Amino acid sequence: MSRFFALILMVLAAFCLSAAPDGNQGEVIYQARCSVCHGKEGVPKSFAKGSPAFNDEAWQKATSVESIERVVAEGRNKMPAFRNKLTQEEIRSVAVHLKTL
Ligand code: HEC
Repeated sequence: MSRFFALILMVLAAFCLSAAPDGNQGEVIYQARCSVCHGKEGVPKSFAKGSPAFNDEAWQKATSVESIERVVAEGRNKMPAFRNKLTQEEIRSVAVHLKTL
C-alpha cells in the first residue's frame, strides 16, 4: 500500500514541476525573441518606440503578469503577436521573467 502512495506522490511531484513556470526558460526566450527590440536588460532600443523600460519601477507596479501575457500573445502597434510562435506556457514564463527585472 505504501508503494502505491509513493507512486502517487511521484506523479504529483512530476506534475507540479512540469506545470511550474520556469524563470530560467523565460529568460532564455526573452534573450532569443524579445531582446532585439527590448534590449538585453529590458531597456528598449530606440526603434522600439512606444515600449516602456521593463526595469522601470512605476511600470513594474502598474503591470501584471496577465497584462504582459495579453500584449505578448496579441501584439500591439509595432509589437508583434507571439500567439502562433510561442506556447501559452512559454508566454507565461517570459511574462514571469519580465516581472523579475
Ligand atoms: C519587433 C520588435 C519587438 C519584439 C521582437 C518584441 N517587442 Fe514587445 N514591444 C515592441 C514595441 C514597439 C512595443 C510598444 C507597443 C505600443 O506602441 O504600444 C512593445 C510593447 C511590449 C509590451 C507592453 C509594455 C507596456 O506595458 O506598455 C510588452 C509587455 C512587451 N512588448 C513584451 C515583449 C516580449 C515578452 C517579447 C518577446 C516574446 C517582445 N515584446 C518582443 C517591440 C517588440
